[in-house]
Amino acid sequence: MSKQTLERILQSQGWGTRRYCRELVEDGEVSIAGETVSDCALKIETDNLEYTLFGETWLFREHVYIALNKPPGYECSRKPSHHPGVLSLLPEQFTLRDVQSVGRLDHDTTGLLLMSDDGTFIHTQSSPKHHVPKLYVASTHDPVTPELVTHLLRGVKLHDEPKPLAAVSCRMIDPYQIEIVLEQGKYHQVKRMLAAAGNHCTELCRTQIGKLTLDQLQLADGEWCYLDAAQLSLLSA
Ligand code: URA
Repeated sequence: MSKQTLERILQSQGWGTRRYCRELVEDGEVSIAGETVSDCALKIETDNLEYTLFGETWLFREHVYIALNKPPGYECSRKPSHHPGVLSLLPEQFTLRDVQSVGRLDHDTTGLLLMSDDGTFIHTQSSPKHHVPKLYVASTHDPVTPELVTHLLRGVKLHDEPKPLAAVSCRMIDPYQIEIVLEQGKYHQVKRMLAAAGNHCTELCRTQIGKLTLDQLQLADGEWCYLDAAQLSLLSA
């Protein structure tokens, strides 16, 4: 149970500065259960709170956990330099509540990207100690051979890594495509492993994190959704 004033609630949800949120309340822009609430001093229970702002009803969320089907041509960094940032694919209030991507996909990599404003969740999910398998589908420039698959499974030496990195699993999907599962999240890892094994990655898509698959979420390119508790629990396995 947690009670807060409406201006603080709106600010926490990313609607703007405290002053702007106070103005929204005073101007009668916010209603709860069909009643306009313009009293800034009133403390309101946030558990399961639904409020209406700008004609849309919103659920109060202490934190947001988001899955995005990342299209190509977007950067995951907080200060994108060469391409638009992935945050530009989400409603503006997520930027204001400091939503960040959990780990990074390259600008040309597509597929499942987690995003959140929960620092603990971001840290746990991106920690190397948290061995969450991630499944990628990689297209290759040269035909896939059994030797390539064996090489990726045995491990390849990348120049700035002390030990060889091996795929948890790897199989050929078709003559120019492999499915590869990795537990680490090193910089350009799939591309560098393929290059070290003598091939070249031409397209890369992440299709699964833990037991959560992109197919389950049914997101079109560039589409996002909130993850519920059941979906979040699939991420730890
Ligand atoms: N490996 C890569 O090479 N790139 C990604 O974006 C993710 C994994």
